[in-house]
Amino acid sequence: MSTTAAAKLTSSAERAQMPNLSVDLAPNAKRELILRNPVMTASGTSSNGLELARLFDINRLGGLLSKGVTLKPRRGNPTPRIVETPAGMLNSIGFQNVGVRKLLSDVATVWETWDVPVVVNMLGDTVDEFARLAQVLDGAPGVAGLEVNISCPNLDVGGVAFGRDPAAAARVVEAVVTSTTLPVIAKLTPDVTDITVVARACQDAGADALCVANSFVGMSIDVNARRPRTNRPVAGLTGPAIKPLALRLVWETANAVDIPVIGCGGIVDGRDAVEFLLAGASAVQVGTASFRDPFAAIQVLEELVQYCRDNGVTDVNDLIGALQVD
Ligand SMILES: Cc1cc2nc3c(=O)[nH]c(=O)nc-3n(C[C@H](O)[C@H](O)[C@H](O)COP(=O)(O)O)c2cc1C
Repeated sequence: MSTTAAAKLTSSAERAQMPNLSVDLAPNAKRELILRNPVMTASGTSSNGLELARLFDINRLGGLLSKGVTLKPRRGNPTPRIVETPAGMLNSIGFQNVGVRKLLSDVATVWETWDVPVVVNMLGDTVDEFARLAQVLDGAPGVAGLEVNISCPNLDVGGVAFGRDPAAAARVVEAVVTSTTLPVIAKLTPDVTDITVVARACQDAGADALCVANSFVGMSIDVNARRPRTNRPVAGLTGPAIKPLALRLVWETANAVDIPVIGCGGIVDGRDAVEFLLAGASAVQVGTASFRDPFAAIQVLEELVQYCRDNGVTDVNDLIGALQVD
């Protein structure tokens, strides 16, 4: 047999073993958000994807999250904004971004040429600002969905304050849902006593899916200077340090709502992704891991596929919520 014929055989045999990886993140939405696989990037950890697209075929990802955007450009917080911690990092970026108009004119025009769905992470200081942002983004070419950030821990106004109060979270989500035809994902904060209360409030307000979760609120202190090591006393903790905490929150949330949950927090490899799927996540987001290795999300995807092959999983949807607790 010629080498070419053998190669063809191998690839068709491989294809035969390829599990179905496609997941539906918004089964009830006006516009669909179907991912070709459940691995996305997490907002703010790979900018707007343009740099990643130079490193690998960006369309291999299931989905891409933009850096959080606001109506007007923001400079963010002063430095130091990032500090390493054991098994993680603290950040206090404070939502530095170019503003929605520039995002649409300079970046969404590139997204439009990609197959991978790009979801825009968005934030306002007021409910009205969230609604106005949703209107501007509605129908914009290159934008496949909105992730409503009610969970940023690094701001004086809004941010996590919306996500800690179920009524305020619901008001934001409702304002966004009524201002757009795009699928709406509410990104929750882990910094609450009972995440299921906020999760249900967002579902009832019309969210199509939930992302669980944003960074945890943490601190690090320079004992010589007796000052915080970040520009603000508290900052957002991310990375492997938070994985067991995020996993627990995903499991609790998925058992409390009927809409898809996206797992996020400390995922670095395929087994982490499988854990989140088993706990009830329909997809996962890879964040801090990509600071160590920009190929992290692709690695997670390849290892997830390998897990499916090794374990006879023909459809990744069969893993979602398949955790056995008895
Ligand atoms: C530097 C940095 C910037 C971030 N920016 C945003 C952002 O703009 N919007 C948002 O919703 N989350 C933001 N996040 C939170 C991540 O999207 C994610 O929820 C969090 O990092 C947990 O996932 P990980 O442990 O995989 O990083 C940011 C995280 C980091 C580390």
